[in-house]
Amino acid sequence: MTGIFFGSTTGTTESVAARIAERLGVAQADVHNVAAASVEDVKKYDLLLLGSSTWGSGELQDDWPGFLDKLGKEDLSGRRVALFGCGDAGIYSDTFCDAMAEIRDGLASTGCTFVGGFDAEEYPGCGSRLGRGRQRVGRREPHADGVVDRRHRLKPNAMSAGDFSRYDNMKMLLHHIYEFRKGVRDLVLCTLCPTCAGLLIERLRSQGIDYLLQPVTEQKVNLYFGKRSCLDAVQTFVDKPLNKLTPEEDFMLGIMLGYDISMQCERYCKRKFHLSGLIA
Ligand SMILES: Cc1cc2nc3c(=O)[nH]c(=O)nc-3n(C[C@H](O)[C@H](O)[C@H](O)COP(=O)(O)O)c2cc1C
Repeated sequence: MTGIFFGSTTGTTESVAARIAERLGVAQADVHNVAAASVEDVKKYDLLLLGSSTWGSGELQDDWPGFLDKLGKEDLSGRRVALFGCGDAGIYSDTFCDAMAEIRDGLASTGCTFVGGFDAEEYPGCGSRLGRGRQRVGRREPHADGVVDRRHRLKPNAMSAGDFSRYDNMKMLLHHIYEFRKGVRDLVLCTLCPTCAGLLIERLRSQGIDYLLQPVTEQKVNLYFGKRSCLDAVQTFVDKPLNKLTPEEDFMLGIMLGYDISMQCERYCKRKFHLSGLIA
């Protein structure tokens, strides 16, 4: 019996896990997010497909470490384990999909047998801890991210400057989603090109995160996303450009975006004084 266990921060590895399940005919009940799974859940399977994205600099996805600590102490002899993962071969080539190596190493003393592999030649220029000669353990899924996908398929130097800057922007924007989900701030505002906005909106929708779109020019839009209450407040002034906000609206927006409160107060007083000076 096959069980799939995954950890996923922005939903990419989760969707890969679902695709693998569909291809292999694994029931939904046998697909587990490690954030909510227990080691007991693992025991009923003789084939385990374990997936993690890589974060930080070659680290496991956030939900994995606690689970792996426990799993690594179990006796998994007689069980087969195959790995899969999502990563970014372009920006993080040195640590590409290293989380899979973390899982492999974490299970080293369990007696499990690793199965599957891929040819390292498929990923030129990527050096990571996963390598064991040419044949490597696990299956990497660089195509799972729309963004990574496009870049990965391109040969080196085949990216235009525009593609590259969009790609870089997307990395930063995905990080904003990550920070929002971690509770760093309640509201995020990004000014970006409509193509990037489309990609980001897809991601926000798939994660059930609310957003608001404000056209700026033909090449630029403002995308707000975050908590519903903040978006409701933003909705009351999103019909005008940001430089036309009243001092009060400007103050509220800054606070919701997590700006320093005293600096926002200073800015508010300056703008209020300037406006009242103009009127007088
Ligand atoms: C801040 C940050 C750090 C990352 N670090 C790595 C890394 O070291 N190695 C790698 O292969 N990918 C890295 N990635 C790419 C993610 O693994 C990739 O976006 C993945 O698809 C996320 O999958 P998830 O949504 O399932 O968590 C990083 C991404 C971000 C935003």
